[in-house]
Amino acid sequence: QLKPKAVIVIFGATGDLAKRKLYPSLYRMFRSGKIEDFAVIGAARRPWTNESYRENVEQSVKNIDMRDKDLQAFSSRFFYQPVDVTNSASYQDLNSLIQELEEDFHTEGNRVFYLAMAPEFFGIIAKNLKLHGLKDSAGWKRLVIEKPFGHDLPSAKQLNEEIRSAFDEDQIYRIDHYLGKEMVQNIEVIRFANGLFEHLWNNRFISNIQITSSESLGVEERARYYDHSGATRDMAQNHMMQMVALLAMEPPINLTTEEVRSEKIKVLRAMRSVNPEDVDAYFVRGQYGPGQIAGSEVTGYREETEELQDSDTETYVAGKIMIDNYRWAGVPFYIRTGKRLAVKSTKIVVEFQNIPMNLYYENKDDQHPNLLVINIQPEEGVTLYLNAKKDKVGHAEPIKLSYRNNLTDHGINTPEAYEKLLYDCLLGDATNFTHWDEVALSWSFIDSILAGWRMKRPAFPNYASGTMGPDAANKLLSKNGHHWWPVEE
Ligand code: BG6
Repeated sequence: QLKPKAVIVIFGATGDLAKRKLYPSLYRMFRSGKIEDFAVIGAARRPWTNESYRENVEQSVKNIDMRDKDLQAFSSRFFYQPVDVTNSASYQDLNSLIQELEEDFHTEGNRVFYLAMAPEFFGIIAKNLKLHGLKDSAGWKRLVIEKPFGHDLPSAKQLNEEIRSAFDEDQIYRIDHYLGKEMVQNIEVIRFANGLFEHLWNNRFISNIQITSSESLGVEERARYYDHSGATRDMAQNHMMQMVALLAMEPPINLTTEEVRSEKIKVLRAMRSVNPEDVDAYFVRGQYGPGQIAGSEVTGYREETEELQDSDTETYVAGKIMIDNYRWAGVPFYIRTGKRLAVKSTKIVVEFQNIPMNLYYENKDDQHPNLLVINIQPEEGVTLYLNAKKDKVGHAEPIKLSYRNNLTDHGINTPEAYEKLLYDCLLGDATNFTHWDEVALSWSFIDSILAGWRMKRPAFPNYASGTMGPDAANKLLSKNGHHWWPVEE
């Protein structure tokens, strides 16, 4: 096992992401022996001390394991440095602390700068790290950036230029945590390690592909961020596009970062851009109204807080994406994602074309197409729907072949995704991070959808909490003779 060495500086160390994802991930890596020589510097505005920081870190990993000895050995590697990210002195202090820890923890000058904070500071931090010499020592330097990476193409470009003025593309690790999910990583393996699927994986045999990522929670405490973002920027531009790319890409010639990314980029380039005037033919937006989730009444989006009362922000988006290339011409990739839907579930359904003649079903409409379902969460696994003989001679019924992945703990939004990505970053493997070209192409696609929507005020709310979204999303498919396969089961 490779045991990378590094000092990890977390900007935004007192924030929610650090507590919920980063500390638990680091702890698991530490417990499983993946990292030994490391130290973490928590950098944030609050006047915390090493002691109060360590207490917080311990709190955030406590429910993973209670073995005190390990916990202390772990948290004693955490150091707190108050910073004002706009102030030069802060970077000088930070640099001194890093140098001290590099001696003590034998990290050979390797440094990760993890930006887990408001995106408006990404550029300024990156520039200051360079300006104040924090990139100058021996050893590698890597910058990890959380989303959102801009709110449209021009802002993403600007942010990228700022970051690129300080870091090279191969030093930048743009996180898309879906790429750390076990079953998202499995898409590639299922496709390219099975002749059974790969030969059929094209417009001659596949009717359509559906990607659903539904959530039952509402905006919770994130109204301020979310209201400026909406489901399209929050989920579609990144996670959903990445899944489309993995499902549609050509086999890479090898598994290096460069080759895998370059195949994904080709898919994003081949996505048919939607003319803003035609947005309604391709995309549907929605916002939740009041309803019921698991038997309890919940409010609508506009009633969540006072600032949201006139909001036109979409909490749901469904779309039909056409990939105009040789393999996929004519096959719709349907995506949908939203808040306050009936279930928390991420699933991919690959619907194969029906056979030309139906001999085994009395009623033609009962025929069930073959489906390959990739269950991303909460269950992880694969289900294949086939038709097989029913008791009565000459009749058929759909059957399910299911595989459930037991490699990881099951659960939603598990820290494993972050753990894998952090470990990859420490090892210098950027395959499961997004390249700038991917970000730019998906923004350019999304921007025309958003431009189309800006031409007209939506009639919101248009779906009740606890349902699977607005009716228009069903029509989007039915006009092509398709329907959404349920993701609830
Ligand atoms: C994040 C979005 O990127 O993904 C959130 O900002 C969303 O709004 C989350 O809830 C969903 O992630 P997961 O892993 O729970 O599907």
